[in-house]
Amino acid sequence: MAGAMDIRFNQLRKTWADGTHALDGIDLTVPAGQFCVLLGHSGAGKSTLLRCVNGLEVPSDGAVSIGGRPVDKASLSKLRRRIAMVHQHFGLVPRASGAANVMAGAVPLLPLWRIMSGIYPSALKRRTCELLRAVGLEESHLDRRAEQLSGGQQQRLGLARAFMADPAIILADEPVASLDPEISRDVLSLLREQAKERGATVLCSLHQVELAREFADRIVALQRGRIVFDGAPRDLRNGDLATIYTRRETPAPRVVPLALRKTG
Ligand SMILES: Nc1ncnc2c1ncn2[C@@H]1O[C@H](COP(=O)(O)OP(=O)(O)OP(=O)(O)O)[C@@H](O)[C@H]1O
Ligand SMILES: [Mg+2]
Repeated sequence: MAGAMDIRFNQLRKTWADGTHALDGIDLTVPAGQFCVLLGHSGAGKSTLLRCVNGLEVPSDGAVSIGGRPVDKASLSKLRRRIAMVHQHFGLVPRASGAANVMAGAVPLLPLWRIMSGIYPSALKRRTCELLRAVGLEESHLDRRAEQLSGGQQQRLGLARAFMADPAIILADEPVASLDPEISRDVLSLLREQAKERGATVLCSLHQVELAREFADRIVALQRGRIVFDGAPRDLRNGDLATIYTRRETPAPRVVPLALRKTG
């Protein structure tokens, strides 16, 4: 169990130098253990919101807190150890082996000399093998260079790496955008299953509404940096989709509270 943590956004704003409001007053609490999917057209602010959680972007105003601790300069290095990211293009080192890529996920927990020497504790090697099996890869994949694996296999490595440091929070920015529909389903299913098993909170942006409906506990849709829908997948209607994916003026948000905000 990762030690569950919630994510809170309080009146979060991000305005770029050219005056673009990427985030325009986001109020949102993602409870610990929830699988929350962000939808929204290109430029709606999904990546910016995710990047504010681990300090890759600094908000212009408002606050983010995780597990009750504000994300700021003082807390960031500690909090980052509890946060993992899964990327659209996998974010692997192409020429490094599968094993090295997965073990890189433990780097935040290791002393510098271990990383410099490349000598990893045997417990870590065992954990690499366990995770590899958990994401449906075989040990033979450990010695192959990441670039020699298929896209789906590479993203499985990406997932194994993300879970390596036992994260409380997983930020996944379009984790299946480079994969075909069938493999996308496998990868999201694994992400969900592993996160649930380990009690991790997931904030995941997706472009495919059908996949959001299938895997999310909750869907939050952004338009021009504002929340326009917040509810369970079953509450997302065609009318909401029309709102989300057209670029008219941002309407009033439609919030359908999840029954008791239960997850699982
Ligand atoms: N580093 C940056 N400098 C200036 N503007 C930026 C920067 N990053 C993003 N933006 C702008 O902020 C807005 C939100 O961008 P963001 O990347 O969060 O959207 P997104 O919802 O992730 O889109 P996509 O679905 O295409 O990934 C857009 O208008 C974008 O052009
Ligand atoms: Mg994005």
